[in-house]
Amino acid sequence: MALTGLFLISFLIIHLIGNLQLLKHDDGQAFNIYAYFMTHNPVIKTISYTLYASILIHALYALLLTLKNKSARGTTGYAISNKSTKWASRNMGILGTVIFIFIIIHMRQFWAEMHWGGIATATYDGQEVKDLYKICAFAFSNVWYVVFYTISMAMLAFHLWHGFASAFQTLGLNHQKYNPIINFVGKAFAIIVPALFALIPILMFF
Ligand code: HEM
Repeated sequence: MALTGLFLISFLIIHLIGNLQLLKHDDGQAFNIYAYFMTHNPVIKTISYTLYASILIHALYALLLTLKNKSARGTTGYAISNKSTKWASRNMGILGTVIFIFIIIHMRQFWAEMHWGGIATATYDGQEVKDLYKICAFAFSNVWYVVFYTISMAMLAFHLWHGFASAFQTLGLNHQKYNPIINFVGKAFAIIVPALFALIPILMFF
């Protein structure tokens, strides 16, 4: 879970940088050229399959671990819950489930359209590409999608708040000297990345 988690974290950085191009005032040109590159480059395509596998492995392992922990505890839960355990760390399963549902809806909305939808095209320097920008602009003109994205990004923030440093701990990469740095980078990442993701639909809506 730690390895797939760190891989998913690195995907988020690339995905965010690409998506921020939606905010350029160029009628989608930079974003559409980026999306075309991402869906046609053979190396990126291979990485994409690793990404889909990582999402499924991460979610399946989470499910198996939760079931294993439940059966180890029998039918009785903990009589006393450790109040010092942070909310995010106690609710990683719920947060992960919401994010998983978000990814399914999100991929149906954009990824499936890009691959199989009969969407309009735009031509830049003689190259015809799918106008994915229009699909995004249309989706984010709906206030409910904007609300859904913003709430999902809040869930992602909580998930990363615990998950980032936890992945390093699981891999044994924590060290008294470096723990403060890992924790700081993890918390900063958990706030900045989901906030920027949420900003995209909000700004596009307005
Ligand atoms: C405002 C925020 C976001 C926007 C505008 C956005 C936009 C898009 C678009 C347009 C695609 C299709 C691109 C293509 O097929 O080439 C896509 C794919 C995808 N998105 Fe997002 N995305 C956002 C946030 C997220 C977040 C937070 C996650 C994960 C938690 C995520 C996970 C994915 C995945 C897994 C794919 C498939 C990638 C692939 O095929 O390589 N997205 N996104």
